[in-house]
Amino acid sequence: MAASEPEARAAALAALSQGDCVAIPTETVYGLAADATNGLAVAKIFALKGRPSFNPLICHVADLEMARLHGEIGDAARKLAEAFWPGPLTLVAPKLPGSPIHELCTAGLETVGLRCPDGLSRELIAEFGRPLAAPSANRSGRISTTSAQHVAEEYPGEPLLVLDAGPCRVGLESTIVRPEPDRLVLLRPGAVTAQALEQACGLPVVAAQAGRIEAPGMMESHYAPDAPLRLEVTGCPPGAALLAFGNRQGREDVGRMLNLSRSGDLAEAAANLYAMLKRLDAAGPALIAVEPIPQQGLGIAINDRLKRAAAPRGKP
Ligand code: TXA
Ligand code: MG
Repeated sequence: MAASEPEARAAALAALSQGDCVAIPTETVYGLAADATNGLAVAKIFALKGRPSFNPLICHVADLEMARLHGEIGDAARKLAEAFWPGPLTLVAPKLPGSPIHELCTAGLETVGLRCPDGLSRELIAEFGRPLAAPSANRSGRISTTSAQHVAEEYPGEPLLVLDAGPCRVGLESTIVRPEPDRLVLLRPGAVTAQALEQACGLPVVAAQAGRIEAPGMMESHYAPDAPLRLEVTGCPPGAALLAFGNRQGREDVGRMLNLSRSGDLAEAAANLYAMLKRLDAAGPALIAVEPIPQQGLGIAINDRLKRAAAPRGKP
């Protein structure tokens, strides 16, 4: 349903109020949302997605004020929220004892992931008056969805309301950061880069310890298409589909090829990543070869997702 239609918002609010899931557009990826304070509603998210229940959900808020009702927002977190909200940044904060956010959302952790998204979903949360728990709307382990059509394709036959606001502007899941007294722990890279985080609050950014699952989205194999992926490919093997990047002068074009960004623009590449992986994968190639993406700025988050998509399957 087009999100711009007046009935769409009313239908979404009605569904959320009665404890149903609604797929919502955000600037990063589409989310599968439910009332974060209603355990039965949150359980429906896990059931629909097929998500292991130890994996906590991000709770989406309308503003910093709503965030403060649920998480302990320290100085660093406040500075980050002021700098980047609404936007593609999730803050992991100690959960306040009085918060009605259901413990299914936090999967037994003492912390809560809080994000204030931009656009329509933010307006919806403000009207709803409480946080919405929303993981990416893909089925567990699959590529995130960046259009309403892709969401609908994940759930054929399910009576799921999908609010359509067109393709997502950013195209990659939010940056996740956990502020500590003297540093910021980066749990997932995203469009808000480590450098931008450091600048905004003056604390050094450290990557989460490798091998320790601090955000279960850090599971090695994640965001996986059906076809195996090979990264950093400069000569495409015969029969493979090619996910290209940048100007192709001097490089041979391949039959099944999509280019993330001909001009080498990383923001354009991020926005195209999941939709293009899906389109290449739909043709059932033996392999998807991916050209090198520069490891800088947004390229760090793009390479992070590609590495997970290429990781051996079934590995937690
Ligand atoms: O851009 C996004 O973040 C999208 C949109 C819909 O907001 N959401 C998203 O959700 O990517 P999801 O569930 O696919 O990924 C959320 C990640 C998971 O890896 C989860 O483990 C982590 O956030 N997470 C949530 N709460 C956490 C917490 N309290 N501590 C550590 N990690 C947490
Ligand atoms: Mg996800």
